[in-house]
Amino acid sequence: MLHKYRFYFMAVALVFLFTGCAPDGAKIFKKECAACHNFKGFGGSICPDLTDVKHRRSDAWIRQQLRDPSVNKPDSRMPSFERLSDKEVQALIDYLKQ
Ligand code: HEC
Repeated sequence: MLHKYRFYFMAVALVFLFTGCAPDGAKIFKKECAACHNFKGFGGSICPDLTDVKHRRSDAWIRQQLRDPSVNKPDSRMPSFERLSDKEVQALIDYLKQ
């Protein structure tokens, strides 16, 4: 009986495996960005609201802002997030562009 569902169980296990490994943009935003930035009503308000950032900034621009904000703005008050991995940065960008 169970062997009928073997494929189904494997598929579910794989989905868990992959979603478990992929960095979660929402979580990273909460931890690293929400103290300063707001996104769709969540987070601080002392820095630019990022709700509509996808209309203002390209992926490459945001990537630069996270790696070294002083390139975009020499007197930037935003800390650099160089310690985030490429995958974490991409997850954040996907989250902000949703
Ligand atoms: C200590 C406060 C602080 C934290 C934490 C912070 N930022 Fe910023 N951010 C700023 C400030 C201030 C600006 C305004 C421009 C500047 O000074 O560089 C800014 C600007 C930006 C912009 C450009 C906004 C626009 O309207 O053009 C983006 C995108 C951005 N931040 C993304 C992030 C992300 C993603 C994180 C989390 C990884 C983050 N920031 C964490 C302070 C912060």
